[in-house]
Amino acid sequence: MKTEISIKDSVALISGANRGIGKAITEELLNRGIKKVYAGARQLESLKALQEKYGARLKPLQLDVTNQESVDNAVKVASDATMLINNAGVMAHGGYKTENMLESIHLNMEVNVLGVIRLTQAALPNIENKPNATIATVSSVVGLGNMPMMNGYCTSKAAVHSMIQGLRGELQDSNVLVSGIYPGPIETDMAKGFEGIELDKPENLAKNVVSALEQGEEDIFPDVMSAQIKQVYGTTPKEVEKMFSTWK
Ligand SMILES: NC(=O)c1ccc[n+]([C@@H]2O[C@H](COP(=O)([O-])OP(=O)(O)OC[C@H]3O[C@@H](n4cnc5c(N)ncnc54)[C@H](OP(=O)(O)O)[C@@H]3O)[C@@H](O)[C@H]2O)c1
Repeated sequence: MKTEISIKDSVALISGANRGIGKAITEELLNRGIKKVYAGARQLESLKALQEKYGARLKPLQLDVTNQESVDNAVKVASDATMLINNAGVMAHGGYKTENMLESIHLNMEVNVLGVIRLTQAALPNIENKPNATIATVSSVVGLGNMPMMNGYCTSKAAVHSMIQGLRGELQDSNVLVSGIYPGPIETDMAKGFEGIELDKPENLAKNVVSALEQGEEDIFPDVMSAQIKQVYGTTPKEVEKMFSTWK
């Protein structure tokens, strides 16, 4: 069911709000008149510039998604947040032919997968049955097809994709909009070192994400490359696997 979301009537909690995609979404929500954003960051001082720019509508929140105590405290403080944006993530490389596949999987899973579960489970009681209830989680186009050069990261993002579907299924009789965000390559610290790939701007992604949430969209492909992948994946998922398999 399509649930349109009123940004102006929402209060959001976002993880990893201090830089990159999380910062861009935070700013877009504030620029569109959201009541308040609880901006989660591991280091509160990294939110100083945002706080100075937006004043009282931006509430800095200490949040490390790998730490249950930090998550529980954050959710307690942000108890009026009806929109959760699971954005925080890491990209550890590593594949079968490198020595650090297990190490890479552990780190990717700890932040990208277990972090999303921790925060979502903790925040859900604050969100369910509230107006404009939303849980949006950042996966990636590489969660839909594996790029071997970042095998362990892709594996974690595929798990995130499945978790989004599972959460949507569990909540299908509730009022919560459960959205998955599937970006292509975006110009952030995470994408430093991506060579020969065109990067879209986080600000463009943020505009498209917030518009899509307003429209109640479940599957959000918010940038130039992901819009192309959406077309291919929609008709021939195997083709996405083939396209990405050449990135070694
Ligand atoms: N950039 C891309 O091309 C791209 C494409 C598809 C999907 N994504 C996804 O988009 C999301 C944001 O990535 P980005 O590109 O903005 O990366 P980024 O610039 O590296 O930012 C990552 C953010 O996650 C935070 N973070 C990392 N570990 C954390 C933890 N344990 N607890 C709380 N916060 C933590 C970081 O905080 P610190 O500053 O404290 O490190 C930072 O705010 C990630 O989920 C990523 O996988 C990115």
